[in-house]
Amino acid sequence: MPQVVLPNQSNYKGEKPVGADRPSPQLALGKEDEPQWLKDFQRDGYAVVKDVVSREKALNYYAPAGEDWLEGFKLGYNRDDPSTWDVKNLPRHIFGGLYGQYSFSHAQFVWDAKTEPKIVELFESLWGTKELTVSFDGGSLAVPLPFDQVQMNAEPWPHSDQSAYRPQRHCVQGLPNILPNGPDDGGLTVLKGSANLFEQYFKEKMHLEPPEKWSTRDGFAWTEETLKWFYDRGCEWVKPVMEPGHFVIWDSRQVHYGAFPRKQNKRFAIYICYKPMAFLTEEQKARKIEAFNRGYVTTHDPCDFIVKSYQDAELNINFPYGKPVVNEQGQKAIGLILY
Ligand SMILES: [Fe+2]
Repeated sequence: MPQVVLPNQSNYKGEKPVGADRPSPQLALGKEDEPQWLKDFQRDGYAVVKDVVSREKALNYYAPAGEDWLEGFKLGYNRDDPSTWDVKNLPRHIFGGLYGQYSFSHAQFVWDAKTEPKIVELFESLWGTKELTVSFDGGSLAVPLPFDQVQMNAEPWPHSDQSAYRPQRHCVQGLPNILPNGPDDGGLTVLKGSANLFEQYFKEKMHLEPPEKWSTRDGFAWTEETLKWFYDRGCEWVKPVMEPGHFVIWDSRQVHYGAFPRKQNKRFAIYICYKPMAFLTEEQKARKIEAFNRGYVTTHDPCDFIVKSYQDAELNINFPYGKPVVNEQGQKAIGLILY
C-alpha cells in the first residue's frame, strides 16, 4: 500500500482548496417535518439546538473530563484554584484555550461527545443520510486568564472557516456547550446572516484579491473594515446564550469567533462536524484512518481536511492519555468499518 500523505496546515500550498474540484453536499430540505432549527440555520447561518446532551451529563461527565484532561498534564493547573489559572500551567493552546494538539480530538470524552446519539441525529437530518463521516477538529477548554496571556489580548478574531475560493456552502460545523454560557462568558459569537452573503462578498470584491492571492486553506480573517460591507447589509453580532448540553451548529462561511471569558466562568466546548460519507474519497478515507491511528487533530471539514500544525513537533504528545475506545457508530464514521 502506498504511503499515506497527510497535507499539513503549516505548509499547505495547494492552488485551490482541498477537493475544490468536487461537488459540495446539499442540505436535506423541503421535508414536511423540517425542524425549526434547520429553518433558523438556513436563514441566519447558525442555529441553537437545546438539550442534545442532558444538563447533568454535561456538568457531571463532560466538564470534569475536560478538567481531568487539563490537570493530567501536571503543569500546575488546578480546577478549583484560580491562582493557578495561568498560561504557564496549561498545555500549548491558541486564543486562550483552543486545543489543536495532544490528540485532543481523540480524547475519550471527545469521542463520547462525537457519538452522542442526538448529535449524530442532528447531522443525519441536516444531510438526509445516516451514512456520515466525522471530523477530528479540536476543542476549547478556556479558563479565565489575564488578558495579556491571551492571543490578541482576548479581543475578537472574526474569521470564516472556508477559503474565499470556496464560496458555496461546503461544510457545517458544530459544538456541544458544556458549561453555563451567558453574555459575559466565553463562547461562540456569530455575525448573524453573514454565511448567506459570503459568496456575494467575494463576487463583488474580487478587486481586493492581493497579488499573492487569498489563502487556499479553509479560512478567511476579517477586519472591521471588511466587515462593514456585512454591517451595511443588516448583519449583527450575536452571542447565543447556551446552557450545558445545548448544541450550536453553523455554516463554515459564517463570520464568527470564540469569545474569551470576560469574567470568572470557564468555557468548554467540543468541535464536531459530520458530512455525508459519500463525499469522502478513498484516498481521504485512508488519510483519515492514518490520522486517527496517529492521534492527529485536523481542520474542521470531515472530508477535505488537512492536519493541524505541530502534530509531530517535539512540543506535542500524541495520545497523552492512551487511545480512545470508539463505539461502532464512531468506527463507521471514521471508515474503519463499513456502514
Ligand atoms: Fe472557526
